[in-house]
Amino acid sequence: MRLILLGPPGAGKGTQAKRLEERYGISQISTGDMLRAEVKAGSPIGLEAKAIMERGDLVPDAIITAMLAARVSAPGSAKGFILDGFPRTVPQAESLDRMLAEKAMPLDQVIELKVDDAALVERIAGRFTCAKCGEGYHDSFKQPAKAGVCDACGSTEFTRRADDKAETVAARLDAYHRQTAPLLPHYAAQGKLRQVDGMAEMDEVTRQIAAVLGAG
Ligand code: AP5
Repeated sequence: MRLILLGPPGAGKGTQAKRLEERYGISQISTGDMLRAEVKAGSPIGLEAKAIMERGDLVPDAIITAMLAARVSAPGSAKGFILDGFPRTVPQAESLDRMLAEKAMPLDQVIELKVDDAALVERIAGRFTCAKCGEGYHDSFKQPAKAGVCDACGSTEFTRRADDKAETVAARLDAYHRQTAPLLPHYAAQGKLRQVDGMAEMDEVTRQIAAVLGAG
């Protein structure tokens, strides 16, 4: 199964991609996670991407498509994948179309998570993750079962993203509306676009995605 989860920052793409990964045994490919790993490693890509990400702008298409091509070709992606945060511009979508056509690996579905801008700001402002295993939490919507202890690995260290500040979130939303929303008609024209109510509670969103995939 090859899927794209499309939606604005904070829509729940990462949350749902991890659930799909577990349920279907296919890999989540998050260009945001890949870039944050490059930044952490201090690599040339990371050095170029850091300031761009902290402003809330998009990293240049050439860097992203090269990074993505390597990942899609990796053995772990043979069973399928969930693209989370890619593509984000029309040129990225066109590169992906060519890449998958060359490999005879067509996309199955593009699932749009629809969420109002006001809710996105609240979701992003309250987000935190386990510093050790990356499990995601939220101040209001998903606290660890035992306060201050990660449910998944027991760590007591948590982190918040550098680009989750209010002023950066506004720039990220603007980039979504200007550069990423035009992908919706691109995939609608291919007959692959499905929509899910991303405003619903997390388990309900998961149920709606499963229904779209024919496994509800
Ligand atoms: P990236 O890491 O892709 O971030 P994003 O798209 O802005 O999305 P987020 O990770 O913020 O949100 P999400 O939709 O995954 O939501 P989540 O599940 O965490 O990109 C970061 C940056 O990298 C970009 O700004 C850009 O600079 C660069 N970049 C990355 N890819 C690029 C590309 N292809 N091209 C160019 N540049 C690129 O949920 C958010 C919170 O809400 C969590 O706390 C969660 O617990 C909670 N939540 C989730 N679902 C629900 C629900 N249904 N109800 C209530 N709360 C919920």
